[in-house]
Formats: sequence, C-alpha cells, structure tokens
Amino acid sequence: MLFRIFAKKKNCMINKKRVTFSSKLGMILAAVGSAVGLGNIWRFPYEAGANGGGAFIIVYILCVFLIGMVAMIAEFLIGKMGRKNVVDSFNQLKPNSAWHYVGYIGLLAGVLIMGNYVVVSGWTLKYFLASSTFGLQDLTVSGYEEFFIKYTASSFEPIIYLVIFMFISHLLLSRGVKTGIEKASKIMMPILFILLLVLVINSLLLPNAIKGLEFLFKPDFSSLSYQGVLAALAQAFFSLSLGMGAMLTYSSYFREDVNIMRTTAQVVVLDTMVALLSGMVIFPAVFAYGASPEAGPGLVFKVLPNVFNQMPLGVLWSSIFYLVLIIACLTSLMSLHEVVIAYFMDKRGLSRRKASLLITIVVIVLGILSSLSMGKLNDLRLFGKTFFDILDFISASICLPLGGMLMSIFVAWILGKDKFVSGLTNDGKIVVNKTLLNVVFFLLKYIVPMAILIIFITSLL
Ligand code: PHE
Repeated sequence: MLFRIFAKKKNCMINKKRVTFSSKLGMILAAVGSAVGLGNIWRFPYEAGANGGGAFIIVYILCVFLIGMVAMIAEFLIGKMGRKNVVDSFNQLKPNSAWHYVGYIGLLAGVLIMGNYVVVSGWTLKYFLASSTFGLQDLTVSGYEEFFIKYTASSFEPIIYLVIFMFISHLLLSRGVKTGIEKASKIMMPILFILLLVLVINSLLLPNAIKGLEFLFKPDFSSLSYQGVLAALAQAFFSLSLGMGAMLTYSSYFREDVNIMRTTAQVVVLDTMVALLSGMVIFPAVFAYGASPEAGPGLVFKVLPNVFNQMPLGVLWSSIFYLVLIIACLTSLMSLHEVVIAYFMDKRGLSRRKASLLITIVVIVLGILSSLSMGKLNDLRLFGKTFFDILDFISASICLPLGGMLMSIFVAWILGKDKFVSGLTNDGKIVVNKTLLNVVFFLLKYIVPMAILIIFITSLL
C-alpha cells in the first residue's frame, strides 16, 4: 500500500491531545466554509431551475431545517464526543462494533466527491482568469456554449487547473488546523459574503429583476417530481456537507465549551442564505437578458458569461462572480481533504503533510479521469453514465443521505438520549430549552431516518 511508504511514525499521534480551533468565530467560519461551496452557487441554482424554481426551494428548505439541521447536530455530536477522525470517533463511542464502517463510507464519499469537485473548481479558476482578462467577451450565445464544451472536453488545460487547485488545498492544509483551516476561513469567508452581497445588489438593479425573483420564490408544484424531491434532499446533504464526516472531523476540533445547537443553527442559516443569495444573483440576471433558467449544470458556465457580457461593467461582475466561486470551492475542498487527512494522521500515524500529499495525488488521478470523461473518455460509460456522473451519483445521491441516516440512527438509538442531552448541554453547563431538546431528539430518532428512507425508496420506484 502506498501509505506504508509514507508511514514512519505509525500510531505516534494517537494519544496526543487533539488540536482545537482557537476561536468561536474561526470554528463557525470553518464549518460555513465547508458548507458554502459549489453546492450553493453552482448546484442549487441549476437544480432549482430544473425542478420548478419556487416549489423545489420550499421542499429544499423543509429538507434543510427538518432533516439536514438535525442530522448536522448528530454529526457534530459524534465528532465532538469522539474527538477523533471519521472512523475512530465511532470506535471511541461504540468500541468493538461495526459502526466505524459508517466512517469508511464517509472516507469513500469524500474521495469520490473530491474527484469531481476539483474538476469543477478548476473550471472556476479558468473562468475567473478568462473573464478578468477580457477573454469571455462578445461571443454569441452558441459561442459561449462552444467555449464551455470545448474547454471541458479538452485533455490538457482543465487538468492543469485541477492540479493547481488541489495543490493550493494541500499547501493550506499542511499548515494545520489553526493556521491552515481556521485562518484561511477567517480571511476568505467574509470576503465571499461581501462580494456576494455586491453581486446581489447589482442583479436586483437590472431591468426585469422581479421576474427572476418570481421564478425563484413562486412555487409551481406541477413541475416537481419525486426525483425532484430526492434531488432536494441530496442537495440539502451536499450543501450542508453532511453524511461523510466533514462536519464530524471539524467538530472533533471544536473547543470543549462549544454550543452545538447554536453553532448548527448559525451554519445552516448562513449556508441557506448563501444558496438563496446566489439564486438572487443568477435568476434576475438570467431573466433580464432573456436567457433560459433551466440550463442545467451549464447554467453558471454557459449561460451566465453571456448574461454578464451584456451587462454594463460585465467584466467586473463576472470576475467577482468567479472569484466568489473560487473561494467557495477552496474552503469546501479543504474540508473534504481534511476528513481523509485526519484519518491517515490518527490511524496510520502519517505526518499532516504526507497524509495531505498522498490524498492530493489520489484525487488528482480521479480528477483527471473525471475531467477526461467529458472529452476523450466520454464513451467509457456505465449504465449510460460517464465517470463524472457516476462519481456524483454514488457520492451525492447515495453515500451522503445513507451516511446521514446512519449517523442519525447512531446518535439516537445507540448513544441514546442521555448522551445526546449531555453532549448538547456540555454536561449541564449550557442551558438548552427542554422542549427543544425533546423535539430534536424525536426528529433524530424517527423522522430523519424514515424521511431519508422513504425518499430513497420512492425515487427508485
Ligand atoms: N457543502 C459543499 C458545497 O456546498 C460540498 C461538500 C459536501 C463539502 C460534502 C464537504 C462535504 O459545495
């Protein structure tokens, strides 16, 4: 195995006290940095566009607050009480059981997601550089489509950009939890929020902006299918970084005095706000210039550049937009990367730098395959799906909801109510409303696992 080559100090770090984030703000921004990503700015708008706009958003918000938020509390609890990586936190809390396999599902999902994530992250870098150097100007509608198709299908440039992106993540993560993750999030997330607000204001000032808002917020349930409901659930899990251990790993670095309920609420609200704000950037602009809102995954890369091109100061707005995407991608990619790093550090005794490098290499290989599946390897299909689509389907539609369901079951049924309460109140040191605790526990025990199961089954029928 490759890791043996890297492994020198096997098991030497296992008993060391775990590092923690140094401030509450840093901790929240790191978790928000994980949550806010392509899911909010790229995936959410096109899923909403494809599934009836407002109707999808209502189901999405229900999934976020009734299922996602509760599942996040469970995931935070496991990490904070287990104080280890995604596999060993389960071992710590329930020794000699099979529960740690949930952690392995998470590791698998993490690596698969990164394989795709890094490809799309690379596109954002390319689009930022192209737009800020006036390279995306004055094409025709089909010219923008062609640009995207040609670029993503090419075998060389997208790979260079994905390698650059993965190495940036590697360099930042090699610096550790406090000076890597926490510092990067503290600098990048406020910038992201400010730039996003600037973009929202600009979009709302466009002619016909109201049409975009109507599309976004006026529900049309006739265009929502069961598949749309599953898409909303998968989107909630993906956007909140749930079900694969990103939040679990970050919460293993939370300080003892963290208030998990409050932190969860903050992260969930900020993440949902960013998704809605992204919709408010994109749809008013799309409608103002008569483009199609149902453009699917190409919305942000094929349709928007054309829309920006027609706007006054378009180069400025598009550069800001792609910069926001770059930041969002980077902080999310780092959290995915960290899940696997923490595992190799705790379990295999690798140094942080070596663990990070090892994963960087594996993800680059997957990323190359995923990128080539849009060009040279497009014919290589399984069940009609390309490599890129397979990675996305297995990770986002199967592993994340499944992981989230199992983590919820673990906390409610295996750890039980007493540990749940003592975890959320820090052994009675924080006052949390009793009814609230009961409601959340009830949701966790019955509603979350059942809802995930039902949505899963109906979508397969
Ligand atoms: N939440 C991230 C996004 O919205 C993606 C992600 C999923 C990150 C799972 C970590 C874990 O883009």
